[in-house]
Amino acid sequence: MATPVPGPSVPAGVVLRPPELSDEAEARAAHAELQVDSFEFLLGLGNDEAWPGYVSRVAGWPEGRGTEAGTVPSTFLFAHAEGHLVGRASVRHRLNPWLERWGGHIGYAVRPAFRRRGYATEVLRQSLVVARSVGVELALVTCDVDNVGSAAVIERCGGVLEGIVDGEPGETPKRRYWVSTTAGGAHQ
Ligand SMILES: CC(C)(COP(=O)(O)OP(=O)(O)OC[C@H]1O[C@@H](n2cnc3c(N)ncnc32)[C@H](O)[C@@H]1OP(=O)(O)O)[C@@H](O)C(=O)NCCC(=O)NCCS
Repeated sequence: MATPVPGPSVPAGVVLRPPELSDEAEARAAHAELQVDSFEFLLGLGNDEAWPGYVSRVAGWPEGRGTEAGTVPSTFLFAHAEGHLVGRASVRHRLNPWLERWGGHIGYAVRPAFRRRGYATEVLRQSLVVARSVGVELALVTCDVDNVGSAAVIERCGGVLEGIVDGEPGETPKRRYWVSTTAGGAHQ
């Protein structure tokens, strides 16, 4: 009989929920920390935008309110664990032409201090459940070709590589993966 191959450990107690007023200090800290990765942690945050206004704007995104023209309805969630804000996810409910080619259905990040603990894998796994709940059966998830961490996360969640797409001149090409939202995918 074959010996089961152990998967990575699943971090306990990761909760995805919408931003709240009490999150401001950690959220702004995370936003600053992710600049080194050129990653916009607080998606669409305006210069000098007040936190209560941002929280209320984000709450309208699933219905397509409070977004810029051309953006699709989305669900923006913070990941909490260990009593801290550890990461965030953005689940797009459908694809527009830019998302179809480049951005995909789901974006995520984990704060530097909380990396390599399985959080991104769990954030993506839970985001796939959210995507499923808004009718996405196959989610497109993309990452830069040199982002080995993100590629590993997507593959652990069952991502099947379709190919690599070039961006604008000077942009890093992206790996495009399709991930079933019904397979219960992570930790394979
Ligand atoms: C990419 C990112 C989300 C990974 O977050 P994470 O919480 O560290 O990921 P996980 O702990 O779930 O990693 C799962 C596996 O991915 C691989 N991995 C993760 N980060 C890695 C790295 N920097 N180098 C090599 N492999 C890495 C490992 O195999 C890891 O498992 P292991 O720790 O058991 O070896 C995080 O580094 C990040 O937020 N980066 C900046 C934003 C970003 O790139 N977001 C993704 C956009 S597509």
